[in-house]
Amino acid sequence: METLRLYPPAVAVEREASEDIVLTSDEDRINVFKGDLFQVPITVLHMDRQHFDDPYAFKPQRFMASNIAHHPYAHLPFGAGPRNCVAKRLALMEAKLALIYSVHNFKFEICDKTARPPERYYTLGLNVPKEVVLRVVKRIH
Ligand code: HEM
Repeated sequence: METLRLYPPAVAVEREASEDIVLTSDEDRINVFKGDLFQVPITVLHMDRQHFDDPYAFKPQRFMASNIAHHPYAHLPFGAGPRNCVAKRLALMEAKLALIYSVHNFKFEICDKTARPPERYYTLGLNVPKEVVLRVVKRIH
């Protein structure tokens, strides 16, 4: 969850308003009309100090049940609502299995060529690491 907060593959999700509505907050009043298109900026929400203190730091403990402080819609790597990612559970299971098999067989070490934080670029609405250079050492079992 914390890796997906810092490096969400999808930059934004889109929605179309199904009815007229007025959105209000302490500072703003926004008229939304049926048919208006929205982008919800995932990366921006994930880096918002209102929701995540010290947002550039990698702190997996933010997601421990006892620590969850953010608004449920502030962490959106898989979107939200009835059109959220249909394969969220599959994707998380695949990622965990790949990680388990990888670290079981190899050690991954940072080296002189490792960029920290990794450089990224955006393409087709996706947030992609430019390269992740690591030293890989096979484990002898
Ligand atoms: C880490 C991996 C993945 C991430 C971060 C991700 C993220 C997302 C996001 C942000 C959306 C838009 C949700 C919204 O609008 O609220 C989405 C939709 C979708 N994703 Fe994923 N996804 C991942 C993996 C996958 C995989 C592995 C599959 C298929 C095997 C998949 C299939 C889909 C489909 C079909 C939709 C459209 C759902 C709909 O519109 O009802 N995703 N995903």
